Amino acid sequence: MLVGVTGTPGTGKTSVCKLIQEYKVIYLNSIVKNQKLISGRDKKRDTTIVDLEGLKKMISKFLKNSQDSVTIMESHYSHLLNPDMAIVLRTNPKELAQRLKKKGYSREKIMENVEAELVDVILVEALESCKEVFEIDTTAKPPEEVKNDILNIIRGEKHKFEFLPGKINWLEEVDIEAVIKGELI
Ligand SMILES: Nc1ncnc2c1ncn2[C@@H]1O[C@H](COP(=O)(O)OP(=O)(O)O)[C@@H](O)[C@H]1O
Ligand SMILES: [Mg+2]
Repeated sequence: MLVGVTGTPGTGKTSVCKLIQEYKVIYLNSIVKNQKLISGRDKKRDTTIVDLEGLKKMISKFLKNSQDSVTIMESHYSHLLNPDMAIVLRTNPKELAQRLKKKGYSREKIMENVEAELVDVILVEALESCKEVFEIDTTAKPPEEVKNDILNIIRGEKHKFEFLPGKINWLEEVDIEAVIKGELI
């Protein structure tokens, strides 16, 4: 089974995946960097465009040679690489802004990610492209607990159903005007 751990930057994907020793984790950003799987540059957003097709080929080659029953991909685009299951990490936009600020993101990048999280961009993409989708709210949950949730979902424990999408609605919890004015930063 191929699992994509995804979510807006700052939701805690890398922190939680670093704790997972039980399964092989592929850090897509490292592969993209090492193999130069870049297909262009998004000038408006000041980011590189990842060669998703090249990455898909590389992953299927890896899976062919792998004996593992579960492989996890970590990245905010892992849900776009045909995983059997996507686990979307979520964070209240107010907390997300603080995490990204601490990480040294520019004001513009914080706004972009806070707005994307607010309106469920990655969740919607995951629902459009993956058969099984779950979401975990990491706002007030330490990475160790998030890790246990991920393992329970992957292993099909019955409380995995707690993580079916639809429970999180940041629009109800956040002062949208404050977000737009950038007051969360
Ligand atoms: N569950 C969590 N609770 C509180 N802070 C967290 C949690 N997960 C990550 N962080 C912090 O938030 C920041 C972003 O985490 P990171 O793992 O880099 O996110 P991502 O890989 O999704 O961009 C880091 O400073 C990290 O220490
Ligand atoms: Mg990361």
